[in-house]
Amino acid sequence: PSRIRTHHLAKAKEAGQRFAMVTAYDQYMAGIFDEAGIEVLLVGDSAANNVLGHETTLPITLDEMVMFSRAVTAGSRRALVVADLPFGSYQVSPGQAVESAVRLMKEARVHAVKLEGGAHFADHVRAITRAGIPVMGHVGFTPQSEHALGGYRVQGRGAAARAVLEDALAIEAAGAFSVLMEMVPAETAAEVDRALKVPTVGIGAGAGTTGQVLVWQDMLGLGQGKVPRFVKRYADLRSIVSGAARAYRDDVLAGTFPGAEHSF
Ligand code: KIV
Ligand code: NA
Repeated sequence: PSRIRTHHLAKAKEAGQRFAMVTAYDQYMAGIFDEAGIEVLLVGDSAANNVLGHETTLPITLDEMVMFSRAVTAGSRRALVVADLPFGSYQVSPGQAVESAVRLMKEARVHAVKLEGGAHFADHVRAITRAGIPVMGHVGFTPQSEHALGGYRVQGRGAAARAVLEDALAIEAAGAFSVLMEMVPAETAAEVDRALKVPTVGIGAGAGTTGQVLVWQDMLGLGQGKVPRFVKRYADLRSIVSGAARAYRDDVLAGTFPGAEHSF
């Protein structure tokens, strides 16, 4: 199967079609999603929470992102693989942003990078784009700024809708091939999608964006407890894995595993 490229996503928008994106951090999940036809795999810095157990996305390093990203490119054949630039790897300057993006392209062989921020990061997006690296923007709620934004809150309500639109337009003008919106009212996100030529992606942004993205552990029900309102659980992996682990332990304690067929 030939690789999905950024121009295929642009064509999808032109044709009034949607595309699906999901996070992946390792080769098996990358391979399963790839085979299922998911168009875009995101090596999210949400690996900080979902793999490494941190409370926020802030502690994950560029080295760690390179490692997860390499696993995802190794495990997939068709999907476009986008890797997040983690906190601290691009904010300092457009030059730092290019250096970090180059590492993800070169050492992990991803196909594009994503960074958080609006108009103030247009220069960073422009610099990376000029280096020949496709960039996806990320506006609305930006988890790397959660301390400045006062926690997980919907962005762009009421008069603030204009700021989200201006951020998205600035990132598009800087050369981004797509703009992701997180936790933005559906109406605002739909307006942004109409205003932009490039395809948009939404999470907690309603059905009016070109594509949708979810964190795979949320989508497949691996986590415990409450999930955000914007998550739809397509499986209950936690109970499947937990049931299997209990059955395995019961067999081991009972001496019924391994059986003769598992032994030499
Ligand atoms: O890191 C991440 O998972 C993201 C999302 C948009 C879900 O950036
Ligand atoms: Na992210």
